[in-house]
Amino acid sequence: MAQPHPQNAEPGPAAGLPAVLVHNFTSLEFPTALPNGRALECRKSMSLKDIYPFSILVISPESLERGEDYDFLFQHVGVMLWDPFDTIGSGSAGGEGGAATEDIPLPPWVDVRLSANPGPKELGLACHHMLRLLELKEQCLVLHNTNAITEARNRQLNQVGMALMAERNLDTLLIMILEKAMELTGSDAGCLYLVEPEDGKRETENDYWANKRIRFKLTRNGSVQFNFAEMTMPPSKSSISGFTMLEGKPLNIPDVYGIPKTAAFRHNSGFDVSSGYRTRSMLTLPMKDNRNRVVGAIQLINKCRNKTSPITSLEAADSQVVPYKQEDLNLSLSLASQASVALLNAQYERDIQALFEGFINASVMAIESRDPTTSGHSHRVADACVRLTDCVARIDTGKYREVRFTETQAREMRYAALLHDFGKIGVREHILTKAKKLFPEEMEGIRLRSEYIKRTISWEIEKAKVALLRAGTEKDPEAALRRLEEKERKDLEGVESFFSTIERANEPARLDDATLEYLRSVGVRTYADPTGSAIGYLREDELNRLLIPQGTLSDAERDEINSHVSHTWKFLSAIPWTQDLRQVPHIAFSHHEKLDGTGYPRKLKGDDIPLPSQIMTICDIFDALAASDRPYKKAMPTEKALDIIGFEVKGGKIDAELFRIFVDARVYLPPAAP
Ligand SMILES: [Fe+2]
Ligand SMILES: [Fe+2]
Repeated sequence: MAQPHPQNAEPGPAAGLPAVLVHNFTSLEFPTALPNGRALECRKSMSLKDIYPFSILVISPESLERGEDYDFLFQHVGVMLWDPFDTIGSGSAGGEGGAATEDIPLPPWVDVRLSANPGPKELGLACHHMLRLLELKEQCLVLHNTNAITEARNRQLNQVGMALMAERNLDTLLIMILEKAMELTGSDAGCLYLVEPEDGKRETENDYWANKRIRFKLTRNGSVQFNFAEMTMPPSKSSISGFTMLEGKPLNIPDVYGIPKTAAFRHNSGFDVSSGYRTRSMLTLPMKDNRNRVVGAIQLINKCRNKTSPITSLEAADSQVVPYKQEDLNLSLSLASQASVALLNAQYERDIQALFEGFINASVMAIESRDPTTSGHSHRVADACVRLTDCVARIDTGKYREVRFTETQAREMRYAALLHDFGKIGVREHILTKAKKLFPEEMEGIRLRSEYIKRTISWEIEKAKVALLRAGTEKDPEAALRRLEEKERKDLEGVESFFSTIERANEPARLDDATLEYLRSVGVRTYADPTGSAIGYLREDELNRLLIPQGTLSDAERDEINSHVSHTWKFLSAIPWTQDLRQVPHIAFSHHEKLDGTGYPRKLKGDDIPLPSQIMTICDIFDALAASDRPYKKAMPTEKALDIIGFEVKGGKIDAELFRIFVDARVYLPPAAP
């Protein structure tokens, strides 16, 4: 059940509690009734319970107890002192009848001092005077309370303003706006609406609402529970919220069931009917931006004086709900204007964030369109990095037990991971996408060359045949021709075998020693070109690249590929990152460094490599090994990919604990579909 709202407590009722005559004496003849018609009461006690809240006390020095805090006790009480023996404030100690008291200075709480023998007239006048004094005291109190309430509300409003400005998350902010508005006005329920552009429509110069719709974004209710789903509606003045937003003015309705039929808007009682709630008072106010355009509305429902039960009946509404006052309106308008600024800030921030995310995604598309075989790599690595970061942040033992990541640091990590390979944009495409040791045009050149060699062989044999027949010196020309043809067949086979070995050696797979030896011997063979010059079967650089024992890249090509990290650094450093994302270039720059200093490009060691980069290294290597979308390389089974990284861990290149977390938490598995 909702708590009563203390800020709704009204100041005490106007003057008029019974005047109480406290006395241990009977000799005074008070009037039988006070001037305002209230009767007198006599009590013998002066406990707080008896004299509070407002009363007239008539005391004699004997009534006073030693050590009692009368300053506090008489704070809101009118006090008449009857001190016939002048023992208080007289400067002399004691007196005949005042043996119980020592001389004390006249206390500040004495309002009227009676004479030694007051007659009925004096007593009547004293009472009259005292009542007037009490009225004044009470007015002071009311003023003081009102002031205090205003001050408290201003303080609250300031606090709310600061809290709103500090909140960056749009959804949390909206909840805060609504709940604070309800709290400040003592409302039992509330709704929040937002104005948003409608897809496919354009705002016209003269009609702000031409492309707008209203989103019923949020609701709160302290009396009933119900299911709520956001919904949108066209702007219309027929509803209270719509009227408020389209007119841009607040509406304060004491009783929504009393809205005249002639009004442009009406209360939709559907919610009351379905939920059992009873809506009564309602304050709806627009939220406007700095250009005075309506961006939403806050609707406050059922201001409660002192809520004791759910507002689910007419009686509950009658007894607890009061209309909203001008001060509620003022307060809510202040809050709404603060809320609008905070809302706009949060929306700007969200838009900037979306813009930035869009830019990053476009950059990732650019990287991956240069090398479609690595499509999805950046996003997969980023997702894995976020998961591993999350796991590291939850670890309570080991060297990472103290490590925690803020939301911004996690974002920084994600951006760095998404853009880690952006520098590939600066690597020549044929090297980036190189699938075999020789480029296709080089292989085609070798094929044509071997065809030429074959033709040359056949041509040489034909020439030899003709020469043989012309010479006519062979005893058995047929046998000599067969020998020549046999030689031709063998030589042609040799060239075929040479070309098929080249094709095999061109693949990235590891070469055996025999093949390497064969390449070395055949590679230096020559044939005569049409001019008679000796030409090698293979050019020197072709031979060297075919001799690459594993993979497809020569050292120079490997260097060029590796230079992507430096390109990444150059590119990311050119972006004016915000303060909280300033580490993005640095994190991305270090994703190929190894703990033992064998990485690149800076050969950083150990802790010089940022932790997010170390996290990225594991995720990056795993994806590069296990990705199944590279045409020239079959996806490696998970176990084998993990083994390879494990080998790097053993070699002191990758952090063992991070890898353990990676494996234990199965970070390498794609997240389950929601
Ligand atoms: Fe890389
Ligand atoms: Fe990568």
